[in-house]
Amino acid sequence: MADKERIGILSGGGDCPGLNAAIRAFTKTAIMEGYEVLGIRNGWKGLIDNDYETLNYLKTSGIIDRGGTILGTSRLSPLKIDNGPQIILDKVKKLGLTGLCVLGGEGTLTVTYEMFKMGLPVVGIPKTIDNDVRGTDYSIGFQTAVEIATEALDRLRSTAESHHRVMLLEVMGRNAGWIATYAGMANGADAILIPEIPMDDDKLEGLFQMLINRNNKGINFSIVVVAEGTILEGKTISRESSGLYDDEKRQLLGGVGRVLGEMIEKATGLETRVSSLDYIQRGGKPVAYDRSLATSFGVKAFNLIKQNKYGEMAAIRGNRITSSPLVEVSKGFKPVHMNAYRIAERFFG
Ligand code: F6P
Repeated sequence: MADKERIGILSGGGDCPGLNAAIRAFTKTAIMEGYEVLGIRNGWKGLIDNDYETLNYLKTSGIIDRGGTILGTSRLSPLKIDNGPQIILDKVKKLGLTGLCVLGGEGTLTVTYEMFKMGLPVVGIPKTIDNDVRGTDYSIGFQTAVEIATEALDRLRSTAESHHRVMLLEVMGRNAGWIATYAGMANGADAILIPEIPMDDDKLEGLFQMLINRNNKGINFSIVVVAEGTILEGKTISRESSGLYDDEKRQLLGGVGRVLGEMIEKATGLETRVSSLDYIQRGGKPVAYDRSLATSFGVKAFNLIKQNKYGEMAAIRGNRITSSPLVEVSKGFKPVHMNAYRIAERFFG
């Protein structure tokens, strides 16, 4: 009997709910079709460290609703290490992988595209709570993060009403304010601040005035959502004043809510409280939508490999599961569609 064709799967970048559902669908489909699947641990790092295992039905059973990734993840990019791309190409060859599936956000899939250009037989699955990957309407994890943020905003509303306060919620979204826009819209928030709309002095003044006006009208509480990457007076706010950097050499964002909260209180005299969802919005069970999207993406990614359609990623356009070229992702992040933001904005104040 001829040896089984061997393919691999890895998850890179930040985790998100729904990764395991995609790993399960990809692996089980491949096994059903007579392939062997290697699960590579901790992203690209697993290939460099020879850290992998053969996946089977048992290992990928009972994980459809589990948060995180059974494979582990890291932000290590082969492009940032000496001879990294060649090491990856050699390892893939040595392991006899005829195809590789990478679950990644904008950063990881851009690296994936570079590796494809260098000869790696690779396909992608878009995943990130930030939903900022081009070439697909949605990425795995986004809907779950929106649910969590909406629930948090609803809870903040009741305590805001009781104490007559301005309540701020900081959510993730380093380049694009998708979570803020959709959770804010679902909650009926009074203001939504996103990286796509830098807050200069005039815009900040408008925000303060809106909050004062609400108070003058007798509405004595307000809800404000702010994405972590929102630019305040020309600056993004990093987690520590020194500006921390992660493995991808990106500024670690966080704290814009606190800075804005102090500004609001000072400018309006209204009592203001700040909460941040941080990693709570990225952990735990995926909602049903993310589980089915991840399942469809897992099957699609396997089919892309089977059809030798390397350099493509699974995608959703409208209601249709399709594929997009990875080159699309490499053109930069996908900003919020302003028509959606404008709808939310109608109900501000
Ligand atoms: O996954 C994307 C993201 O959620 C960004 O919004 C955020 O800035 C970043 O991850 C933080 O991730 P980590 O601290 O895990 O590197």
